[in-house]
Parts: sequence; structure tokens; C-alpha cells
Amino acid sequence: MLRRLRRHVLLGHPLARRVVRPLPAPVKQRLLTMAGMSGIHRYQDFRDPTAKAVLIAEFLRGSVASYPQSVLDVGCNAGEITRYLNKEGFLTVGIDLHEVLDRVPPGRKHSALIPFEVDSESVPRLPSFDSVLLLSVHHQWIATNGDTATRRLVRDLSNKADKTMVIEFSCLNSKYGKYHPELFVDNNPASVTEYASEWLTETLPDFIFDFLGLNVEHPVDEPHRVLLGGRRIDSSTHPSSDISQ
Ligand SMILES: C[S@@+](CC[C@H](N)C(=O)[O-])C[C@H]1O[C@@H](n2cnc3c(N)ncnc32)[C@H](O)[C@@H]1O
Repeated sequence: MLRRLRRHVLLGHPLARRVVRPLPAPVKQRLLTMAGMSGIHRYQDFRDPTAKAVLIAEFLRGSVASYPQSVLDVGCNAGEITRYLNKEGFLTVGIDLHEVLDRVPPGRKHSALIPFEVDSESVPRLPSFDSVLLLSVHHQWIATNGDTATRRLVRDLSNKADKTMVIEFSCLNSKYGKYHPELFVDNNPASVTEYASEWLTETLPDFIFDFLGLNVEHPVDEPHRVLLGGRRIDSSTHPSSDISQ
């Protein structure tokens, strides 16, 4: 209760956001510590998985003629988006590292969440789906494996997407392990969208990506993340998905 009050009234207040946003990260961290809020920010605290899932469902429905589309949610974490899309009639499978799946709250209903680490050796073992989601995973791969290996992996993964892909980009250079030179202007959605569009055009020339919207991330460090949806240019030449047809 107290945590929710602090989170929404203090951190979430527009004035607080405006004052805190330009401060360097160490100063922000110090302020949070002084306010007794240093331990408060956990992964799902500020996110709204439903708002993100609604944007994704709209894009998927608008892109593919109506039949139950199969969707692979790569890096699904506790499976919030996977579950929402499943309830909306999509045939969903969520995959993530084993220890993250352990975070699904006890008793919380979930279906088709599978421990599966995506890498260049494991991708060929995946079946094909109508759509592949890569939400807030891309920056982690760049930070860990570098840009070239990430492009290769995302290209391999796109072979499992018969019709569409949805990718979410972080708006902080530090999340990509970058400080100088920067990839884009931090927390500037237009600049991040430009970076993301160029990255996707070069990496996935068989898809055309559009900006789908901004998702709320964290009121102090990173107010939004950028969501892009891509349609395969000629899906008739790509094999049909294994699990929905
Ligand atoms: C920032 S979270 C995003 C969670 C969810 N997609 C969302 O948008 O709410 C990134 C997730 O990707 C998972 N992940 C990162 N690399 C992965 C890999 N190689 N294979 C499977 N999951 C991975 C992490 O375990 C983590 O749960």
C-alpha cells in the first residue's frame, strides 16, 4: 500500500518526473535512496502489460486475415503478454530462460510458457509461427552479444515468423551497453524510432516495419519504450506456420 502510494504519488507525479528525468543516474539513485525508495523499482512495477498487449493485438488483427493466429513471445518473462493474447483468441507460446519462468506467481494460471534459451543453435529447433514477438529483449542481446551477433540472431528468428514481427526497443543507450558514441538521443522517442527503423530495415529486409506506439516503462529513468510492428513483404513465398495450419 505504502509502496503503491510512493510509486504513483511521488515517482509517478508529472512534476516529479520533470524534475528528476534530466538528472544523472547516480544522482537519481541517491534521491531514491534518500526517499527510502531504492528497492522499489522491480521489473513489472511501472509497466502496463495490458496496454502493450492491446497495441500488439490490434496490429496482429489488422495485418492478417481473421483466423486464430499463432504467436511466439520470445523472452516472455512471467508471460503477461502471452496470457493476454491467449485470452484474446491467439494461439500463444511464451519462451524464456528457466529461472524467469519460476517467477510466475504461485497459483497464477498460465499456459504454454516453456523454458527455452534462444541462441543461434536453438533457433532452428523452433517451429514457425504467424508472428514472433521480441519485446524489450533486443537491447539485452546487443549489450550481451554485440550488434553483429544480435542482427544474425534476429534474422534467424525472423525465419520463424511467417507473417509479422513485433519488436520493442529500449530508449536508454546504457541498456544497450552504450555510452559513447550514442545510438540515439536518450528518452527521445523520435530518435529511438529512427535508430530502430534503420536497424530493422538493414537487418530484416523481408519486412516493412511501422511505429505502433509508446509503452510506459519507468517514470524516473525511462518513461517510454518504442514498439514497432513489421509485416513480411511477400508472405505467400514463405512457408505457412507449423502450429496454426
Ligand atoms: C526486459 S524482459 C521483457 C519481458 C517481456 N517480453 C515484456 O516485454 O514484458 C526481457 C526478458 O527476455 C528474456 N531473455 C533474454 N535473453 C533471452 C534468451 N536468449 N532466450 C530466452 N529469453 C531471453 C529475459 O530472461 C527476460 O525475461
